Amino acid sequence: MEKVKIVINGKEVEGIKDQSVLEVAREHGIYIPALCYHPEVPSSGGSCRVCLVEAHQNGWMRLVTSCNYPVRKGLEVKTDTDLVRRIRKGVLELLLARVPDSDVIRDLARKDGIEEPRFFTDEGEDNRYKCIACGLCTQVCEDVVGVNAISMLSRSSDKTPGTPYHKDSQACIGCGACAYACPTSAISMKDTDGIRTIWGREFSMVSCSVCGKPYIPEAQVDWIVKTTHKERSFFERCPDHR
Ligand code: FES
Repeated sequence: MEKVKIVINGKEVEGIKDQSVLEVAREHGIYIPALCYHPEVPSSGGSCRVCLVEAHQNGWMRLVTSCNYPVRKGLEVKTDTDLVRRIRKGVLELLLARVPDSDVIRDLARKDGIEEPRFFTDEGEDNRYKCIACGLCTQVCEDVVGVNAISMLSRSSDKTPGTPYHKDSQACIGCGACAYACPTSAISMKDTDGIRTIWGREFSMVSCSVCGKPYIPEAQVDWIVKTTHKERSFFERCPDHR
């Protein structure tokens, strides 16, 4: 692995060639806000644009999304300039206008001094909606879980993740990876009395033979057994009691 030295906010740091600027910054304790990027999801990032930074190289400067911009020799990054703050503020105002009830977006916006967006906010029922349409949930489902149960539906401001035609997805295994990955907790998932409800479907859960706690949907166990070499008996106990 080829090591690369770059400068972030005047400090020289080391990363690995083609690692993203965001990853290198995080490894060195430098804060850059990010929503749609997840380290376990290679295809994630590049959608929400809150991770914008200035990238300086060979005498030019560009605003880039740090989550998918690779480190290169001679790169200098600035994460907190007036320009970065001004553009990020606009991005956050747009996000806040879309999801005014999202605590995550509201907190991020507040850090940049925004209490209310300047842009039009729909006062309808959808105000309770928290999805920023970043697509991370669909990427997790397809690229990490490998079931492709959800996708982005509609266009522009109506864009939202969902099951095909908003009907029960027979492909869904109820694993909840989409809900766990969602940066704004916009996906509803409930575990009650051994039943998980997600995307309009109910999934029976397998209970741990030691503590009795329901911990994984049966459909997820079926999927793992079918696609890996794991024995079904492996799932008799929850991770805490294996
Ligand atoms: Fe980089 Fe969303 S975190 S664009």
